[in-house]
Amino acid sequence: MKMRTGRKAGCIFLLIKLLKISSQMLILKEEKIILRVNKKMIKVMNSEKKRAPLNRTLLLNDNELSRFGAKLIKLNKKVTLDEIVNKTIYQDLFEVLDYLPENSIDLFFVDPPYNLSKDFNGHKFNKMTIDAYCDYIETWLKKIVPLLKKDASIYICGDYHSSTSIHLAASKYFDVLNRITWQREKGRGAKSNWKNSTEDIWFCTNSSNYKFYVERVKEKRKVLAPYKIDGKPKDWEETENGNFRLTHPSNIWTDLTIPYWSMPENTDHPTQKPEKLLAKIILASSDAGDIVFDPFLGSGTTSVVAKKLGRNFIGIEKNLEYCCLAEKRLEIAERDKTIQGYEDGVFWERNTLALQKKIVPTIL
Ligand SMILES: C[S@@+](CC[C@H](N)C(=O)[O-])C[C@H]1O[C@@H](n2cnc3c(N)ncnc32)[C@H](O)[C@@H]1O
Repeated sequence: MKMRTGRKAGCIFLLIKLLKISSQMLILKEEKIILRVNKKMIKVMNSEKKRAPLNRTLLLNDNELSRFGAKLIKLNKKVTLDEIVNKTIYQDLFEVLDYLPENSIDLFFVDPPYNLSKDFNGHKFNKMTIDAYCDYIETWLKKIVPLLKKDASIYICGDYHSSTSIHLAASKYFDVLNRITWQREKGRGAKSNWKNSTEDIWFCTNSSNYKFYVERVKEKRKVLAPYKIDGKPKDWEETENGNFRLTHPSNIWTDLTIPYWSMPENTDHPTQKPEKLLAKIILASSDAGDIVFDPFLGSGTTSVVAKKLGRNFIGIEKNLEYCCLAEKRLEIAERDKTIQGYEDGVFWERNTLALQKKIVPTIL
């Protein structure tokens, strides 16, 4: 009788093990197929597009896809911070959020698909009503709230289609302190509407005790009316390269472009954020060594800028190619910490590269 029970238990153990191995094999098989399909897609994408000689868009070849793919992680159980810090999690965020450690994030930046119909490399997002998009935000936001430290800052991106829903959802959990409007210039002209050239970034905090370092994010501007008192400049500086003032940054950001093909940070991601935008947020709202979290990582901008500025990062992205682009950018960031538009510890106005090069000769 005893032996029978023992054998039965042994059989069950063996069966469970076999099931585990076969399900792991299934995942591996599935991954290989995805990798093969992606390699084909990348080849098609890379060969179809004719690029200008000075085009600096970052691409991936087959080897890089395999090499960077091997750095990605997937989660299937609760993890400690050490296990995921400075990593890219290649998974749907809804499969991951329950496994992340609570009370661990200092800065949460989120750039979800806006409430527009858009194709993210085969994954389609469909436009919904304001209420439905608000519900969609809540499905992930409520799971992220416990992961945040009490003094965490939160930045949520959107545009006029999604901002109403963001404001409604965010104010349920956070103190909403501001709506930054980014004048992003590029955008399609419309025949029967005003061209949409702005995006919003909602700035929220998890309590009234939060970090905000305004001195680090002042903007360097040319002085148009050089006002003097007793013959001395009033709040501006006279230099051989012109007159400049460091101004307090407002909630209208006009000094940023979206990444262009001529910029070294550019990838083929359809909604990539500029590194300079993340630099402002990370410098204003975190300290060196803090944890910066982005669950819709895309091409990796948040993790890359966090790394360049000496912060730690955690990113989640469900698209393999975007994850690999993020890893490629992170590797480049090991040797190149430059952030276009942020030089010599200050944020410059747009179209001042020639002047920056004159003042900071090390700029390439
Ligand atoms: C607006 S883009 C973010 C772009 C990013 N800020 C950058 O600079 O590249 C949103 C990203 O979220 C990813 N995404 C959408 N739904 C997701 C989900 N459920 N889990 C993980 N990633 C998701 C998309 O693949 C897309 O790359």
